[in-house]
Amino acid sequence: MNIAVVGTGYVGLVTGVTLSEIGHQVTCIDIDEDKIEKMKRGQSPIYEPGLSELMLKNIAENRLHFTTHHEEGFYKADVIYIAVGTPENEDGSANLTYVEEVAIKIAELIEQDTIVVIKSTVPVGTNDRIQQFIHHHLIRNVKVEVVSNPEFLKEGTAIYDSFHGDRIVIGANSLQAANIIEQINKPFGIPVFITDIRSAEMIKYAANAFLATKISFINEIANICERVNADVEQVAKGIGMDQRIGNKFLNAGIGYGGSCFPKDTKALLKIAGHVDYEFELLKGVVNVNKQQQYLLLKKLNNRFETLNGMRIAVLGLAFKPNTDDLREAASIVITEELINQGAQVIAFDPIAMENAKKTLVTSIIYADSIEEALRDADAALILTEWDDIKYMDHAIFKTMRTPIIFDGRNCFELSSLKDSIIEYHSIGRPVVKPEITNALIYD
Ligand code: UDX
Repeated sequence: MNIAVVGTGYVGLVTGVTLSEIGHQVTCIDIDEDKIEKMKRGQSPIYEPGLSELMLKNIAENRLHFTTHHEEGFYKADVIYIAVGTPENEDGSANLTYVEEVAIKIAELIEQDTIVVIKSTVPVGTNDRIQQFIHHHLIRNVKVEVVSNPEFLKEGTAIYDSFHGDRIVIGANSLQAANIIEQINKPFGIPVFITDIRSAEMIKYAANAFLATKISFINEIANICERVNADVEQVAKGIGMDQRIGNKFLNAGIGYGGSCFPKDTKALLKIAGHVDYEFELLKGVVNVNKQQQYLLLKKLNNRFETLNGMRIAVLGLAFKPNTDDLREAASIVITEELINQGAQVIAFDPIAMENAKKTLVTSIIYADSIEEALRDADAALILTEWDDIKYMDHAIFKTMRTPIIFDGRNCFELSSLKDSIIEYHSIGRPVVKPEITNALIYD
């Protein structure tokens, strides 16, 4: 099949590259010339394990192409994927300007019957609206059918997920169009669920809202665990063994970040609001997440009289491991507040430091290693559970002025800290202090 993918952000690029890997002729289109030139040479604009390798391979095998010219990509395309951004408007709703711009281009340029697949996360009803919008602006006498095909990729494992996902959701008005998209995806070997367009659009929001709910739920359980001397990790294991609950997405921490959960939960609240429905549960999920991002600061403020003049190491800045993405990361609010309270912040992240320098408050000092960040620090915060941090040698903590650790991602097993010199505060678990090695105490 000849496929065009418009938008080479995270979703578009991974979609285009993996579709070329399973044998399709794919042209990725973007208006950013600099980015397109780099991608033609196989340079990925994002850090995603395995992506550059697949780009280079499929460019070399002449299946993957890049252009800034829509007409070049649309020429003879059987299917056009729209994967441009739907950023958050100030009121939390999804901004559809970019999707509409592409729809106009399609209407003006296509010369053959085409299926338009919308990958971007869009409010329920948008696919139908875009279908009418394209028909309204069509210049030639051709048939266009819009199909919804939401993505469920996770950053950091997007390539793996493309080949091992749980399902591919296809929402279409006609079985014929759905079958074509099913055939395109067949080589991925993933179960396909075909449904109507509006349900497909809703599945994306409902899935992300449910996962966000699981996270806020376990975070609230963690907060209660801290107050009743229970251990949230044990609780998560115990409830996760019930298959109706499942053991995934029950890691307590400093809340969810990233490009999807924060944006999609708020967008779903807006969607509900537009049809006069107050989604009370989801409002709670969003509020709990906001509070959870401040939890380590509260713990610090309880532990120390003032943070003014303290040297605080921050380990991990990305919103989760294996990505350089800082969007909606807890590190943004935490580092800003530390600086506001007069602390000196020395930060380290294995991959996300370049993005951090562009995103975080400028007065942060960046270290080249975990060791350098910790040296002479009065306290350390762990914000991302990178393997480098989880499996670090605890002897390094000896170089801190006072080895007091606040771990927002429960990186260390409490049992491994028995003879440790560190004072260890984590989420939903007992505080461990060096002088009382076996008796675990609480704040
Ligand atoms: C998510 C969805 O998983 C994916 O299906 C969708 O397409 C896009 O959004 P992503 O944002 O890449 O993917 O990351 P994910 O691994 O889901 O984690 C999101 C956030 O939740 C991270 O900040 C992570 O630290 C947090 N999280 C996740 C928890 O706090 N606890 C958990 O148990 C799981």
